[in-house]
Amino acid sequence: MRTSSAPICFKLRHILNDILDEIHCYLRIMSQDKQNKLWGGRFTQSTDAFVQAFTASVDFDQRLAPYDIQCSIAHAKMLTKVSILTEQECEQIITGLSDILASIQAGEFEWSIALEDVHMNIEAALTERIGIAGKKLHTGRSRNDQVATDIRLFMRDQLMLIDAELSRLQQGLVSLAGENADTIMPGFTHLQVAQPITFGHHLMAWFEMLKRDSQRFADCAKRVNVMPLGSAALAGTSYPIDRNMTAELLGFSHPCANSLDGVSDRDFAIEFCAASALLMTHLSRFSEEIVLWSSAQFNFIELPDAFCTGSSIMPQKKNPDVPELVRGKTGRVNGNLVSLLTLMKSQPLAYNKDNQEDKEPLFDTVDTVLGSLRAFADMVPNIEPVKASMLKAAKQGFSTATDLADYLVGKGIPFRDAHEVVGLAVRLGTQTQRDLSELSLEELQGFSAKISADVFDVLTLEGSVFARDHIGGTAPRQVMQAVSDAKAFLNNKNAS
Ligand code: ARG
Repeated sequence: MRTSSAPICFKLRHILNDILDEIHCYLRIMSQDKQNKLWGGRFTQSTDAFVQAFTASVDFDQRLAPYDIQCSIAHAKMLTKVSILTEQECEQIITGLSDILASIQAGEFEWSIALEDVHMNIEAALTERIGIAGKKLHTGRSRNDQVATDIRLFMRDQLMLIDAELSRLQQGLVSLAGENADTIMPGFTHLQVAQPITFGHHLMAWFEMLKRDSQRFADCAKRVNVMPLGSAALAGTSYPIDRNMTAELLGFSHPCANSLDGVSDRDFAIEFCAASALLMTHLSRFSEEIVLWSSAQFNFIELPDAFCTGSSIMPQKKNPDVPELVRGKTGRVNGNLVSLLTLMKSQPLAYNKDNQEDKEPLFDTVDTVLGSLRAFADMVPNIEPVKASMLKAAKQGFSTATDLADYLVGKGIPFRDAHEVVGLAVRLGTQTQRDLSELSLEELQGFSAKISADVFDVLTLEGSVFARDHIGGTAPRQVMQAVSDAKAFLNNKNAS
């Protein structure tokens, strides 16, 4: 019977064809394009050496390698499901890519500038390892949708790390605030003593800023988690791909709705940098206060030695390097935001090489934000308030002047007149170098007959802070409430 040998013949012919194909391709590459480019077919001249280095991104985008591999494995599984790859080819691809990942992680992988970027380096290495199946991986996709997907996978991981560090810092703030709900310090406006507040209240203001920052990152994460893969170069692909399957394999919430948009826009990265710039702006404000407070002039806090450095020439110095550096690093994150905005501005649809420039500002932002948060999260729980200095400073600068005005209003004097009366009392205090609480009852009554002995209840710092006992006020009871709300918020977040 002849029939049984037919499939074997067919298979053999198939294998032979593949081998001839390989040899032909190899010879062409060797004779025409010594650089072994993956897109060499159309070209007759090799790339200028400078242009090659100038256009290459592999020096920095190799950081995306684990995500590129993750993305390729999902793509291969999908191609297999829709019968574009065989099970065997898929297995070869997965094994090859896993080996490549291991060699990258071991620092043994040889990156080549001639292969331009992370995607082509990995694809070429795969083909070198597994042969023809490696060449089939790029079916139905392009580096354009590949890179856009890789960046989103990378950002998703980084957003999780950032969120964890942010929560750690918030936790530190909340415990320090709880320990200092009734620690009195001066509150400032225009950096002039304004009214007494509690240190816990001040710390919880920082907490609120960070809470909004974490909400901004969480919101950004929703738009990051959309999959461009399948957009191919710009228009989609004629292969019967299953984008929902790839999205599910990669943990994306859904595939992007428009292929042109998917490969070209980097608004999700810009949004991330904008949220980062705001976070850094907040950290720079905390930094500034920590620098001021740890100075001999304020002496409100003692910073742990581990977060300061000495001077090579002045032995007495203990410099608050960590907050100073974080304050300084805000500049580069703001700069990165402007870089990305400018990079995107006026780009026509769809992908343009300009977008290769998105990576360095993005990576730098991630590293700067993570480093700054880590430094702060480690430092904040170790800040020691110098309570006596805070109290002394709150006593200077007539911080209870508003309380005296409110007291007079309570006695039926219109606020504007009360303001005038207190101004006169402050002038006497300034001339005689005494706080309002140190003026005698007779002296105070000289400014208004409505003043009686109970005035001293409001002129004390404690009286002043305890009186501001409403939602968002500085009274210790309110601070404790804010602390317990914050703890519940953080616990809920961790539980979800
Ligand atoms: N390295 C490129 C980038 O980062 C990958 C995409 C290249 N696409 C292209 N058509 N040249 O954007």
